[in-house]
Amino acid sequence: MRRFATGVAIVTTSLDGRIHGFTVNAFAGVSASPPTVLICVNRIATAHPLIAASQRFCVNVLALDQRRLAERFAGGEPRSRFEGVPYRIGPSGSPILEGTLAHVDCRVTEELTASTHTIFLGHVLDAGSRDAPPLGYFNREYRDFALRPDQDPLRQPRDDDA
Ligand SMILES: Cc1cc2nc3c(=O)[nH]c(=O)nc-3n(C[C@H](O)[C@H](O)[C@H](O)COP(=O)(O)O)c2cc1C
Repeated sequence: MRRFATGVAIVTTSLDGRIHGFTVNAFAGVSASPPTVLICVNRIATAHPLIAASQRFCVNVLALDQRRLAERFAGGEPRSRFEGVPYRIGPSGSPILEGTLAHVDCRVTEELTASTHTIFLGHVLDAGSRDAPPLGYFNREYRDFALRPDQDPLRQPRDDDA
């Protein structure tokens, strides 16, 4: 799996006024109609019982300049992770972090037990995005995958190019 290049996101949730967030890369789109995504959450994660009880989560896709946030939300004391991090509360009640590339705010529609993890399927309540380079993850390292489009030999010109 370490040879599979991914983005990095912080999944947030809230339960009874307590907010929580943690770093993930097991995030995928499932269907466009109905708009559905999935996340895989370790059952020993603090986040697991919170998402299971609230039935809500928001996936915050990180920009290249948010590596420190990815590191902070991947360990340590959960209560201090949001210190100094601007956010607003989304329709699901979960924090939507500022400065990200995109957010996908969800209500849980299904939970599938899969070995040590639970796959949470989420119906998208709200989503947004902006243009900026993504934070990448490959071979257990944070990476900059962002070649300028005009330098990328793989890329075909698109109609919506600026
Ligand atoms: C790049 C990266 C991706 C990760 N992806 C996941 C993931 O998809 N699911 C998961 O349960 N944990 C994942 N983790 C581990 C959690 O971020 C970590 O265990 C975290 O401390 C869990 O937080 P919590 O126990 O406070 O909820 C990932 C860690 C890193 C660094």
